[in-house]
Amino acid sequence: MNEKNDKLNGCITLPVSVVSGCLDNDFSFTKEECQEIQTEITHYENLQAAVITSLKIVQKRCGWVMDCAIISIAEMLRISVSDVESVATFYNQIFRQPVGRHIIRFCDSVVCYISGCQSFQIKLEQFLCIKTGETTLDNRFTMIPVSCLGKCDCAPVIMIDDDIYTHVLSMDITEMLEKYL
Ligand code: FES
Repeated sequence: MNEKNDKLNGCITLPVSVVSGCLDNDFSFTKEECQEIQTEITHYENLQAAVITSLKIVQKRCGWVMDCAIISIAEMLRISVSDVESVATFYNQIFRQPVGRHIIRFCDSVVCYISGCQSFQIKLEQFLCIKTGETTLDNRFTMIPVSCLGKCDCAPVIMIDDDIYTHVLSMDITEMLEKYL
């Protein structure tokens, strides 16, 4: 084990089976997850570089990143909780609250804005009976605004999970959403 791995705090000795959970007051990394983080660390000088990987691991398992996971990451990497929190809140792909099974990201940057994204956003909100930032009652969709999705020439644009939809004003919302069960 190299020196950088030795700096990991508590990770190696964690019990493998503490995967209960994604409770907001109980999170521990599994042995496999620790190994993944350790592998990431070997590529960088600084343990802080593993924060994003650690956050992604939490989100992959739990669907979002709860406060106790932020604390676990900080303890494991021996950095401050606020350093982890600042990374978590900087990236809009990291969710700090529970989200639905499918994420609808709509671009509200300037090109989509002048192309009428707001009217489509309102239609979506009415169709799903939620406001932007909220999750549907059946936990199926969460709507969040994002900056440019890189398809400005096809504005307005939305993304559902990994699927990009362009020129959405002309699209049928029911048809668009029906494949996301
Ligand atoms: S501004 Fe919306 S995709 Fe670029």
